[in-house]
Amino acid sequence: MITETNPEKMYEAMQAKLGSVVPDFELRIKSEIAAEINRLKIEKNAVILGHNYMEPALFNSVPDFVGDSLELARRAAQTDKDIIVFCGVEFMAETAKILNPQKTVLIPSDKAGCSLAASITAADVRELKKRFPGVPVVTYVNTYADVKAESDICCTSGNARAVVESLNTDTVIFLPDEYLAKNVAKETGKDIIFPTMDPRKTMDEGLNYQMIGWLGRCEVHDKFTVEDIENVRKQFPDVTILAHPECSPEVVAASDFSGSTTAMIRHVEKTAAPHYLLLTECAMGDNIAAANPDKDMLRLCNVRCPHMNQITLEDTLESLRKIQYVIEIPEDILKRAARAVERMIAIG
Ligand code: 13P
Ligand code: SF4
Repeated sequence: MITETNPEKMYEAMQAKLGSVVPDFELRIKSEIAAEINRLKIEKNAVILGHNYMEPALFNSVPDFVGDSLELARRAAQTDKDIIVFCGVEFMAETAKILNPQKTVLIPSDKAGCSLAASITAADVRELKKRFPGVPVVTYVNTYADVKAESDICCTSGNARAVVESLNTDTVIFLPDEYLAKNVAKETGKDIIFPTMDPRKTMDEGLNYQMIGWLGRCEVHDKFTVEDIENVRKQFPDVTILAHPECSPEVVAASDFSGSTTAMIRHVEKTAAPHYLLLTECAMGDNIAAANPDKDMLRLCNVRCPHMNQITLEDTLESLRKIQYVIEIPEDILKRAARAVERMIAIG
């Protein structure tokens, strides 16, 4: 975080951090905006949370805290500020609101959705619960509040295995990411079914499975293939490949490391490979390159999340100026969703 409110000093601080990855004329513009955001942040007693996917000029300037979904949910639970500005996508800002019903939670754009969150509705979860009565529902945080409200517990990519194991049950419903579910099933040695593929499968049929999944996918991580990995390895035989667990199990198996966005950052920081390739949203590679000029990050600049990409410094400034866009969740949904999110946070 840079706390400067003076544009010239902000420019110098951003230049020191980002001079190697952001052109100077852009830094000049961005530093003025960032300085004004910092001034308003103090005036309005706000905290800014920034997801690891934020573009470098934002990620490296105004957020008080940066991190993966789990870390930011924890930060949101701890803040004593009046306003939380969430530089991430809508489901993340909703999670912050669920944990802070009395505070004003803002998201700088009202167009920052998520293909996973859009893949399932609360009615879908209710239907699954009817078909598989008594089976606990684990919901990835990449879902909207009404879906969380139908769940027993949430998880993120950083704690999915721990959450499933904490339940100590034979069978779990794990929603909505097909690939994350398959990856967790593999890690925990469980067999998985996708009842939407075969509507006849119910618990009563005594089939051998312990996980029930849903066919949602992340439109970004779904793009990576094993063929991409083979091609990169041919070109850069000593590359270390890191894949987010929203990638398919085949892609994860062909990679060298898999973990949450923060786990990937830490892995690059603590190892010394000749090259790294991240199979995830591409801004994160720029952020790692800025913080670690000695590491060679192979760039995949076409794989940008269109939703995360909505969040800019310009919109963050407007968000604080106009107090927009305010996250609102109906009280009954919020209360039920809070149980699932708080249960996850308590797992640690
Ligand atoms: P993390 O929880 O690993 O930060 O992932 C969030 C996300 O949306 C990945 O696409
Ligand atoms: Fe959603 Fe995928 Fe974008 Fe993450 S990268 S916010 S899962 S669409």
